Amino acid sequence: MTHLATMLATAIPAASAQSTPAETVRDVAYLVAAFLFIFGLKKLRSPKTARHGNALAATGMLVAILATYLAADPGAIWWAIATMILGSGIGAALAWRVQMTQMPQMVAMFNGFGGLASALVVGGEWMKAAFEGGLARPDALAMIGVSALIGCVTFSGSVVAAGKLHGAISGKPIKIPAQLVVNGACLSLAILCIVLMVTTGGAWWPLALVIVLALGLGVTLTLPIGGADMPVMVSLLNSYSGLAAAAAGFVVDYNKALIVSGALVGASGLILTAIMCKAMNRSLANVLFAGVGTADSTGSAGVSVEGKTVKSADADDAAIILDAAQRLMIVPGYGMAVAQAQHAVRELADALQERGVTVMYGVHPVAGRMPGHMNVLLAEADIPYEQLLDLDQANSEIDTCDVAMVIGANDVVNPAARHDQSSPIFGMPILDVDKAGTCFVLKRSLGAGYAGVDNELFFGDRTLMVFGDAKQTLQAILAALKVL
Ligand code: TAP
Repeated sequence: MTHLATMLATAIPAASAQSTPAETVRDVAYLVAAFLFIFGLKKLRSPKTARHGNALAATGMLVAILATYLAADPGAIWWAIATMILGSGIGAALAWRVQMTQMPQMVAMFNGFGGLASALVVGGEWMKAAFEGGLARPDALAMIGVSALIGCVTFSGSVVAAGKLHGAISGKPIKIPAQLVVNGACLSLAILCIVLMVTTGGAWWPLALVIVLALGLGVTLTLPIGGADMPVMVSLLNSYSGLAAAAAGFVVDYNKALIVSGALVGASGLILTAIMCKAMNRSLANVLFAGVGTADSTGSAGVSVEGKTVKSADADDAAIILDAAQRLMIVPGYGMAVAQAQHAVRELADALQERGVTVMYGVHPVAGRMPGHMNVLLAEADIPYEQLLDLDQANSEIDTCDVAMVIGANDVVNPAARHDQSSPIFGMPILDVDKAGTCFVLKRSLGAGYAGVDNELFFGDRTLMVFGDAKQTLQAILAALKVL
């Protein structure tokens, strides 16, 4: 939301430096918009109220746009409308075509463009001041530097993140020699350039240096992060894009809508980053600098099966056991997204509920590849929100369930996280599906998940593997259930 506000604020300059009645109305409207952003964000806390929250925040943005138009130079409005239509058209076309599994890289690119927009805005403000004579206030000059720095880091970092998530760049951590020293030196130099920009009254070369250093810093910060940890980096970059926009707000006539929306994005991105790190039981420093993980592959790691036996079942067996069950916990994971199995899940759940089975869903906070990934997919299939349980709720119910059905999840149900101190996922809270009466695992092979580690759940006494593509397996179980 900050991206639109950033571009509007610069595309439509205020009609005059004096405060007119229209500007007063605009400022009141910005306040209303800020309230709508805050209440909208609050409602995003729960899947049940999230759509309403989104609508509220979007209304806030509409209010901010209309208010900006109200106090704008009429000559600039048509340019703004034309570029908004063009940008919205490109955004809508991209969003329409993107696959659900490509959402993380799309979000990364949106963040990147948000950062770039802020950098362009402050660059524009610098040029305006330079060419119209009499450079901006020292505080505005400092904020131009800060916004350009954060905005360019966000842009180049997001491009690398999107490339890694898309597979265009290797998902393996790409180590840079003396990484901390190099990044520290780049950052210090960039800060020095911002100081020079202020003391020289806005000379062009320190700003140019800030931009070059920031673009490089975005790359060197993101390349060493493994594909598996990229969603955390994307969330952090999202936070940066908000900070860049807030800094730009100080430059563009202290634009309140920009400052408030930027600060909200900055803070919420940071909170989300912290939540993800907690859900993986890792520190942010570990995510950023440890270079954990391999490429974002599924099923590629070897599985040591010596001495262990796996019990497998087919769709007919699964249908019989499910038909006899009273309580079922469905645990979706990344494989459900890959198979696009959410509608098949819903159809099977409906059929089982008609037969008197109580169905609930255990949703792990880092299941899938982006925050809220499973919630979005399940909502797309109109699965009632009341049936979605978070990690703690699901774990408190799971031992009362006759069956747990794991659909394309792996790491988030790996019991090694509870006791194997040598495992890279040790300490990560998991969904305790091994405590259900029977646990079906629907996946194509015994291959590993994101963390690249074997899963002892597959060899558990109560586990039955149902091999195959999740969507096809669910459809086969439903067909078998119908003839019982
Ligand atoms: P994963 O552990 O990645 O496992 C996904 C499994 O899906 C794979 O083992 C794969 O097994 C299976 N699969 C793939 N395609 C399938 C298909 N068509 N049908 C059936 N199964 C299919 O997934 P998870 O349990 O959701 O865990 C998420 C991982 O991502 C965690 O390690 C988490 O830390 C990490 N991560 C997530 C986030 C966020 S925000 N969500 C952020 C950072 C890191 P087969 O190949 O055998 O089918």
